[in-house]
Amino acid sequence: MEFNIKSGSPEKQRVACVVVGVYESRKLTLAADLLDRISNGFIGDVLRRGDMEGKLGSTLLLHSVPHTLCDRVLLVGLGKERDFRAKEYREAIRASARALTQTSSSEVVSYLSELSVKKHEVEWMVEQACVVTLDTLYRCDTYKSKPDESIREPRKFTLAVPRRSDLADGERGLARGQAIAAGMKLTKDLGNAPGNICTPDYLAEQARKVAEAFGAEAEILDKAAIEEAGMGSFLAVAKGSDLEPRFIVLRYHGAKEKTDQPFVLVGKGITFDSGGISLKPGEAMDEMKYDMGGAAAVLGVFRATVEMKLPLNIVVLIPTCENMPSGRALKPGDIVTSMSGQTIEVLNTDAEGRLILCDALTYAERFEPAAVIDVATLTGACIIALGHVATGLYSSQDSLARELVAAGEEVGDRAWHMPLWEEYQDLLKSPFADMSNLGGRAGGSISAACFLSRFAKAYDWAHLDIAGTAWKSGKDKGSTGRPVPLLVQYLQDRADIALGNVVRRGRPRREVTETPEQHDAD
Ligand code: BES
Ligand code: MN
Ligand code: ZN
Repeated sequence: MEFNIKSGSPEKQRVACVVVGVYESRKLTLAADLLDRISNGFIGDVLRRGDMEGKLGSTLLLHSVPHTLCDRVLLVGLGKERDFRAKEYREAIRASARALTQTSSSEVVSYLSELSVKKHEVEWMVEQACVVTLDTLYRCDTYKSKPDESIREPRKFTLAVPRRSDLADGERGLARGQAIAAGMKLTKDLGNAPGNICTPDYLAEQARKVAEAFGAEAEILDKAAIEEAGMGSFLAVAKGSDLEPRFIVLRYHGAKEKTDQPFVLVGKGITFDSGGISLKPGEAMDEMKYDMGGAAAVLGVFRATVEMKLPLNIVVLIPTCENMPSGRALKPGDIVTSMSGQTIEVLNTDAEGRLILCDALTYAERFEPAAVIDVATLTGACIIALGHVATGLYSSQDSLARELVAAGEEVGDRAWHMPLWEEYQDLLKSPFADMSNLGGRAGGSISAACFLSRFAKAYDWAHLDIAGTAWKSGKDKGSTGRPVPLLVQYLQDRADIALGNVVRRGRPRREVTETPEQHDAD
């Protein structure tokens, strides 16, 4: 789908569909009002007949509105005008995209991007409209013999901005939005790919392709190189599988100095988690193909930020293998030696994510990182704690946690700061080794984070447990593309800081402002 930015009146658009908003109690937005006037009150009449109230997320498709040049007008309910905020805006965009798939509108002009949302400007409005539209229209039909033709998508999608002078901001928002959406699509495609296709080798090849396409460096460590590096814990998980493990390293130099400290993103890349010898129950085990959701997310973030040419150095690290039972598999009670030298008693082979991540965290030290953020579908306990709404966020540095929470709020991809207190470390005591890999049921997401923290002492570190947010179960099951928006926003904020710009939430970012109190606004 091709996106454009335009400023101009809705009644003059010679296209298949014009999209305009209506607030609750039938209050027309500026664009809807213009269409109403030119059509001698046609829209107002339709609303008075009672088919639409303007409730948030409702839609009504009108054909042949008098005196307009478009074939259709799609009315989109926005809810109460005074409650119209970022979340409501995204919901209205989502509803409009859904409704459009039920029409055969090849060219669309949407005026929703002209609305005003408190504390946000044109660039953000356009960026979010683009991201949410493409997110809503995403489908995975790669593995169907024929794509589903009952769902249609526009060929050309134009987002309106209020004034000609907004066009440049709009274009910038569009470029950002398209980069983020393309990153999320990569994440979703990889997450949805079945385990017999998305193997460690496949993941490595996809990573290499991304790096090549954008002029970044890729290095893939094979089993011998992983042994050479001393990643005993990672190798212990991999050895039950017939497939060889891979360790993926991507590097992008966007900062002024090649020697600037990089941001290191680590993704859990278990391409199938059967549980190993501590075998999982059969129900919904198919969903464990997305246990490489963390790897998919950091690749999506890499693709987006490199396409945006963020002025930062960025490193992606992905340990990837399968977790399988076999005669050669890791067993409960086994003791393994991690790359850090710390020994681990494996009490449950299904707690494998931490065993592969710990070695990647040690490997990260060599980059002298500005910060390390790992992303992992790590614990079922995190789903119990936070459901499917918030990502579990842990950090050794409160300021880093605050920045990540704020970035997530900005783009509607929320994370919740969880405790990492000393008291929880006791859960990992082992009589035989330096620690066990199991903390028990109580506080299961926290003890997993505590385990990782023992390998992340050399730098500022955060951990995102995305078990509940990276994937949707049920009839619309599939990868969500989270937390790509959060992490791209975080890196964008860091880039702004590196450029000497002050991050002021919801304001145009690219200007230097004077008052330091505004740093943490919002
Ligand atoms: N990949 C799972 C976590 C998971 C579970 C993600 C459900 C998404 C949905 C992880 O490897 C795992 O099996 N964790 C165990 C840990 C336990 C054995 C300490 C869990 O959460 O049950
Ligand atoms: Mn597991
Ligand atoms: Zn797992």
